[in-house]
Amino acid sequence: MARRVRKAVLPVAGLGTRIQPAAKVTQKNLLNVFDRPMLAHVVAEGRAAGIEHFVIVLGRGHGAIEDYFDHAFELEAGLETKGKTEVLEAVRADLLEPGQMSFVRQMAPLGLGHAVWCAREIIGDEPFAVMLPDMLMDATPGGLSQAVAAHEATGGANVVVVEPAPPGEAHKYGIVALGETFAGFDGRLKAMTGMVEKPPPGTEPSNLFISGRYVLGPGVFEALSAHATGAGGEIQLTDAMLKRLASEPYFALEYDGVTYDCGDPIGLLRANVAFALRSPTAANQARAAVEAVLGRA
Ligand code: UTP
Repeated sequence: MARRVRKAVLPVAGLGTRIQPAAKVTQKNLLNVFDRPMLAHVVAEGRAAGIEHFVIVLGRGHGAIEDYFDHAFELEAGLETKGKTEVLEAVRADLLEPGQMSFVRQMAPLGLGHAVWCAREIIGDEPFAVMLPDMLMDATPGGLSQAVAAHEATGGANVVVVEPAPPGEAHKYGIVALGETFAGFDGRLKAMTGMVEKPPPGTEPSNLFISGRYVLGPGVFEALSAHATGAGGEIQLTDAMLKRLASEPYFALEYDGVTYDCGDPIGLLRANVAFALRSPTAANQARAAVEAVLGRA
């Protein structure tokens, strides 16, 4: 039987080169998507999937992230005095409980694999999730919930969430090679036989890219501890998973949902529009606002 997935690693220590200067003084993952920072949407997705402990891998100057999940006494007291109950509830909804979050520092942005490795002591010897907080998923149930379900169905195998890349764009991403189909999951869960980070155009083994949610066994830390560099001179998580593929089962789950890459301005714009349009309270207003802008374009 699969062990429960209780912890998630959220690496936010990258330089965010594609979205500068927007992320020069505000950490990229604190940029807004409709009604809250993108990171808060991802933490909510993790909580819905049963995550009890979030390990956020920070870089230099990222202290505001710690503050976001903590009380803001002046703000909360001010809202209380003014009787702004709904706003107060929204502010408090994102707070994590004491002991539910850890922050570790990646002292240099050496790559996603290195960032995940920085969380090894807090994860210990149990399966864990990795959530890339600039990849926002519009999905019900959430992307990580779907991955955890696949992890459980396979008796505790590693699961990587994938989705079709837009035509002609597969070479920009980590792409998977697939084998046999696992029963159930409407044929969307397949054994993984390989993966390659940013394959040269024309060499992609499939059109399915790794879209930012993983459930991994602790064995991946052993592979990461070699600190081998790969594509772009960075320590890649993909390379470490590839090493483990020889000794552990890996599955790719083509999840039911859409991912917005908020690491670039257009992806962030798309996420803002999509999240506003699905809001139970503001969808009509959002639609009218978007249509008014389009009418002037
Ligand atoms: P990205 O590939 O999106 O890199 O990293 P980036 O630095 O954020 O953005 P670009 O590509 O330069 O615009 C995927 C995730 O891994 C984290 C990033 O913060 C992001 O959440 N990451 C990446 C780290 O935490 N450390 C690293 O060394 C690299």
